[in-house]
Amino acid sequence: MTQSHPGISKAVIPAAGLGTRFLPATKATPKEMLPVVDKPAIQYVVEEAVTAGLSDVLMVTGRNKRPLEDHFDRNYELESALGRKGDAERLARVQESSDLATMHYVRQGDPKGLGHAVLCAAPHVGDQPFAVLLGDDLIDPRDPLLSRMIEIQGQYGGSVIALMEVDPAQIHLYGSAAVEPTAEGDVVRITGLVEKPDPADAPSNYAIIGRYVLDPAVFDILRRTEPGRGGEIQLTDALQHLAETYESAADAAGKAGGPVHGVVFKGRRYDTGDRGDYLRAIVRLACEREDLGPEFRTWLRSYVTEEM
Ligand code: G1P
Repeated sequence: MTQSHPGISKAVIPAAGLGTRFLPATKATPKEMLPVVDKPAIQYVVEEAVTAGLSDVLMVTGRNKRPLEDHFDRNYELESALGRKGDAERLARVQESSDLATMHYVRQGDPKGLGHAVLCAAPHVGDQPFAVLLGDDLIDPRDPLLSRMIEIQGQYGGSVIALMEVDPAQIHLYGSAAVEPTAEGDVVRITGLVEKPDPADAPSNYAIIGRYVLDPAVFDILRRTEPGRGGEIQLTDALQHLAETYESAADAAGKAGGPVHGVVFKGRRYDTGDRGDYLRAIVRLACEREDLGPEFRTWLRSYVTEEM
């Protein structure tokens, strides 16, 4: 079910990364186009934004990302060939991606990091809160996260990030958050953030996963944010600045930007930028598909019992 929220209508999807973990598959194909069962990974992410009521989608792309634009555009030649064959089912599937959302594109130019990619969205976003969805994180469509984050943003203002508890040994792969509880069990107040810390220095095992609802004040902060971890302009550093500014409501008086809260996600998330997790996502989603699932599950069961 599609929802709508006053004030938040735009989603930003950074998609300029090189996809080096999937070479050589990503030598000439954007990593976002790798299929998860029979849809490119990026389509799940756009569908998630639309389901949460955000039908204005800006993709921040780079060189060699033209297939992304083609995927969300009409393909008249293919559509008329399928029409002539009377293949209504496939025709509908082809048209689905071009009818999904109002798509916009901006190029990042220099790959200066996630914070820089988000900053490229500033002219399009304007002065409304907006969502950022990272393409490598696939949130299972049955476990809504973004609509809850939008709801919390409506309640507390400021910015809201998605968090997930991870094995402390894995925290160096993520932004890590220092948190305080709130009255709501799944919501925490963020008091500090560190991008990809050494496990010994991590404030907690709460990892940032790739969903954000941001106050537009983040743009000004990003403009002033120096390169951080990996020599890149980090979104985490800009959010740390916001969290620090709002250490307490009294500190925050008169300051733009609002507090930072986290929604703790306990649902199914796949990191399709990681080869192992990418394979797990495909197997899980294939098992659950009505059309492919029954046969695939039978095969998988016998494969696991007989051949492994
Ligand atoms: C980015 C963010 C990081 C976050 C992660 C989630 O890192 O910088 O804070 O935890 O996404 O997937 P990346 O994985 O793009 O290096």
